[in-house]
Amino acid sequence: MIKIHFNHNEITMKSPESQPVTAIAHPNIAFIKYWGNRDQQLRLPCNSSLSMNLSGLETRTTVYFDPSLHKDVFILGGERITGAAAERVSAFLNVVREFAGVDSYAQIESQNNFPAGAGVASSASAFAALALAASTAIGLELSEKELSRLARRGSGSACRSIPTGFVEWQAGSSDADSYAWSIAPAQHWSLVDLVCVIDKGHKAVGSTGGHALAGTSPLQSLRLAHVQERVDLCRSAILARDFETFAEVVEEDSNLMHAVMRTSNTPLHYWLPETEVVLWMVKSWRKEGIPVCATVDAGPNVHVLVESAHANWVEQQLSRLPGISQIYKAQPGDGARLI
Ligand code: PMV
Repeated sequence: MIKIHFNHNEITMKSPESQPVTAIAHPNIAFIKYWGNRDQQLRLPCNSSLSMNLSGLETRTTVYFDPSLHKDVFILGGERITGAAAERVSAFLNVVREFAGVDSYAQIESQNNFPAGAGVASSASAFAALALAASTAIGLELSEKELSRLARRGSGSACRSIPTGFVEWQAGSSDADSYAWSIAPAQHWSLVDLVCVIDKGHKAVGSTGGHALAGTSPLQSLRLAHVQERVDLCRSAILARDFETFAEVVEEDSNLMHAVMRTSNTPLHYWLPETEVVLWMVKSWRKEGIPVCATVDAGPNVHVLVESAHANWVEQQLSRLPGISQIYKAQPGDGARLI
């Protein structure tokens, strides 16, 4: 075992594993959203954000660095992937290789148990699982903070899928201090996320392209002006299990992000008519006293957040609404881990 210095950090290195290494990570749902980067390359966000990992939904990734390979081989859901998606994985592995000072290519096999690219953040669980499996396979021993920083380089929100339960990502001012940590374990609050799948297709503009457009909206600076107050309010509401305050700030923040998306140049309209119907119904149930609220990421799917005692009732009501092809039920989940 040796100690190396990289980017002002002391990293512990072993020899690369001679066996494939497998990691699991869950996607996460942002309560206070990340939208827009200060540094697109390093994925340093314009603002801090808060999220919850989603148990039951997962990416499982196996990595093996094989000195006999001439390039990385990426297999997703049993199919060999080439083109932009494979290049993004290789670009991420280049960061891991540079970190470790190793130049072997890797065999990567990955599987999601939920649809990719439609508002359930598959890139978060994908790059969190890949960061853990690849860094371990190459012989790096990273702390949770270093892993979170590394996962961020693949997809910003992936840094929030490394720690457990309810998670805060501090925007920070540089690569060194932009990482996530757990503010409460999964058992802290029995919230349920009913993920209403409205469209399983891939969106026209993904989040990487969307972040690059955020600054073109005249509303982005207004969104950012008070975002730290929303982070603070939402964190306190989570810690106090205060659903009313939580619901108001979560919905306000989601609406602010979609206002930025819709007014960016090019405008991004992720919602479908069925999205609006779910949002309307959720508001009306809350008025009747049900502890339920909703948030939407970069896609048409709606994440309906409800206290567990009311989850079955809300799920039944949702299943009667038009256009919802599937409902996934997720509870607060653990962080990324090796299996
Ligand atoms: O990590 P990315 O680049 O996929 O961006 C995620 C953006 C949102 O899901 C819309 C918001 C968030 O904070 O997760």
